[in-house]
Amino acid sequence: MSILVVFWNRMKKNCTSASSAGLSRIAFLIQNSILDTLLPLVEALELTNFKLKISNAQRGYNKITNHINPMQNIVVLTGAGISAESGINTFRDANGLWEGHDVMEVASPQGWRNNPELVLDFYNKRRSQLHTVTPNKAHLDLVALEDKFNVSIITQNVDDLHERAGSNNVIHLHGELLKVRSQFDEQLVLDWKHDLILGDHCEHNSQLRPHIVWFGEAVPMMDLAIEITEQADILMIIGTSMQVYPAAGLLQYARHQTPVYFIDPNPAISPTEHLSILSEKATTGVAKVVEELLG
Ligand SMILES: NC(=O)c1ccc[n+]([C@@H]2O[C@H](COP(=O)([O-])OP(=O)(O)OC[C@H]3O[C@@H](n4cnc5c(N)ncnc54)[C@H](O)[C@@H]3O)[C@@H](O)[C@H]2O)c1
Repeated sequence: MSILVVFWNRMKKNCTSASSAGLSRIAFLIQNSILDTLLPLVEALELTNFKLKISNAQRGYNKITNHINPMQNIVVLTGAGISAESGINTFRDANGLWEGHDVMEVASPQGWRNNPELVLDFYNKRRSQLHTVTPNKAHLDLVALEDKFNVSIITQNVDDLHERAGSNNVIHLHGELLKVRSQFDEQLVLDWKHDLILGDHCEHNSQLRPHIVWFGEAVPMMDLAIEITEQADILMIIGTSMQVYPAAGLLQYARHQTPVYFIDPNPAISPTEHLSILSEKATTGVAKVVEELLG
C-alpha cells in the first residue's frame, strides 16, 4: 500500500513539474489510466486491512477507528481572495482596478502593444512583491488534505503561494508571475525571478513577455481543468468573484451530486442543495472545511 502511495505521489509531482500544457495533459491522462488499474487493488488492500483490524479488535487489542475510505478526488478552485491575507490585493475589491491600473492597460494584448514598458513595469512590481509575501493559513491548510485525498488545485492566481505552502498538484489557469515566455514560440517558457525589460530576448532573438494569460487570450490549461473538475468528488471554491471566464464556468463541469463548498466573504453565488456557502475569509473558512473533511 505504501509503495502505491509513494508511486502515486511521484506521478502527481511529475505532472506538476511538467512545464508545458501538453506534457501536463499527457501526464494527467497516464496517471488516470494507471489509477483506473490501481484503484481496485488499493480497495482490495484497504479491505484486507479493514478485515485485519476487525479480527484484531475481536481479539481485543486494536480499536477500529477508520471506515473504508477509497481515495477521493478533491478539486479546489482558488482566486485572488485566497492570497489576500498574505498581502496581495485582489482587484474586484479595488473597484475593478488591479493595483491602480485598468486591467486592459496591463493585462491585454492591446495593452502590451500600446505600452510594453508599462506592462513590464507592472509585472516586475508584482514579481518583486511576491518575493516579500508568504503563504497564509488557508494555503497551508489545503496541503493537509493531501494526507487523505487526491487533491488538485486549479488556481486563477499567478502567484506561487500554493506551491510554496507545499501543495503538489497545482494548475495555473492564468499563468505564472515567476515565468516568462517567448513571443515567437509560446511553448518556450522560462523560469524568471527578477525584472524583465525590453531587450530581454529568447534564443530566437524574440522579446520575452510575462507568462500570463491576458484578457482575450486562450486559456491553454482549460481542457485539463475541465477534465479534473469532472472527476471531482468534492469541490471547494475559495476567494473568487466568479467574474472571469472561462474559469468561472468550471463549476458547471462538476457532477450534479458533487458537494461544493464556496468560501468568500462576499459570495457571488447562492447556496443550493449541494452547494454550501461560508461567507468568511479564506483563513477561517478553509480551516472549517478541512477539519470537517479530515474528520
Ligand atoms: N494573487 C494573484 O495572483 C492575483 C491577484 C489579483 C488579481 N489576480 C488575477 O485577477 C483575476 C481576478 O479574478 P478572481 O476572481 O481571482 O479575483 P477577484 O479580484 O475578481 O475577486 C476576489 C474575490 O476574493 C474575495 N476575497 C477578498 N478577500 C478575501 C479573503 N480574505 N478570503 C477569501 N476571499 C476573499 C472577494 O470577495 C472577491 O470575491 C484572476 O484571473 C487573477 O489572475 C491574481
